Amino acid sequence: MNTRRRQILKELNLLPVWRLKPGIAKQSTLPVPQAVEVEHSPLTSEPVKDSAQLPVSEMNWDQLKAAVSQCVACPLSQARTQTVFGVGDENADWLFVGEGPGAREDEIGEPFVGQAGKLLDQMLAAIQLKRGEGVYIANIVKCRPPNNRNPTLNEAQQCEPFLTRQIALIKPKLIVTLGKVAAQNLLNRDDSISSLRGKVHSYSGIPLIVTYHPAYLLRSLPDKAKAWKDLCFARATMQSLR
Ligand code: URA
Repeated sequence: MNTRRRQILKELNLLPVWRLKPGIAKQSTLPVPQAVEVEHSPLTSEPVKDSAQLPVSEMNWDQLKAAVSQCVACPLSQARTQTVFGVGDENADWLFVGEGPGAREDEIGEPFVGQAGKLLDQMLAAIQLKRGEGVYIANIVKCRPPNNRNPTLNEAQQCEPFLTRQIALIKPKLIVTLGKVAAQNLLNRDDSISSLRGKVHSYSGIPLIVTYHPAYLLRSLPDKAKAWKDLCFARATMQSLR
C-alpha cells in the first residue's frame, strides 16, 4: 500500500487493513447451492410428488415396482438377491397368488419359475390358461424367506400394501390362492386349506378360490385330483362371472 493511501485510510480511521492469509484465500468461496430440478404437473403446475413420498395405495405400476425393489421394511430384504415383484398381464382377469419366492425365483426375479412353477404352468394349461395371457402371478411376500420357510406374520404384513396395490391396479375378476399362506393371509383366517376349498370367498368384493400350493402337490400326488377339482370349480366360477 502506498504512503498516500495509507495516510488517507489512517485519517478515516480505517487502519489496520485486514487481509485473508494466502492459504485461506483459496478456500474462501462459499458453496454454490445446486439447482434442484422439480417435476411439475403439466395441468396444475403443482410439483409432482416423487414416489418416495406417495402412499403405496396411490402408486402407479412403475412407482410400485420401484418401491418394491427398494424395500427394506422387513428382515427378508437383507438376504435377497432381488425382489420378485410379480409377472403377467397387468389387466388380467385371473390372479394367482403364492406365498413367496424360492431359490430359483430369487435368482431370476420372477414368481414360480422352479419345479413348482412348471407344475403351475401345467395347471394353468389344464384350464386353457397361460402365464401372461389374461393371467397375473404374484406372491404374499416379494423376497425369499430363508430355507424356503413360510413368511412370518410380520413379514407378510410389511409386504401386504404392495400386493393390495397390485390387486387394485389389476382389478382381477377372480383370485386363486395357492397354498395355506396365501389363503390365510388374503382371507385373514387361520382355517385349513381343506376347510377353505370348494367355496367362493371374497377379497374386497373380488371372488376368491382356494387350492393347494403346487410345491405341496409335487410331494402329495393324491391331492392333485383335488387340485384339479378346484381348478374346474375356478373355471366354472369365472364363466359365471362373464
Ligand atoms: N412358491 C411360491 O409360493 N411362490 C413362488 O414364486 C415360487 C414358489
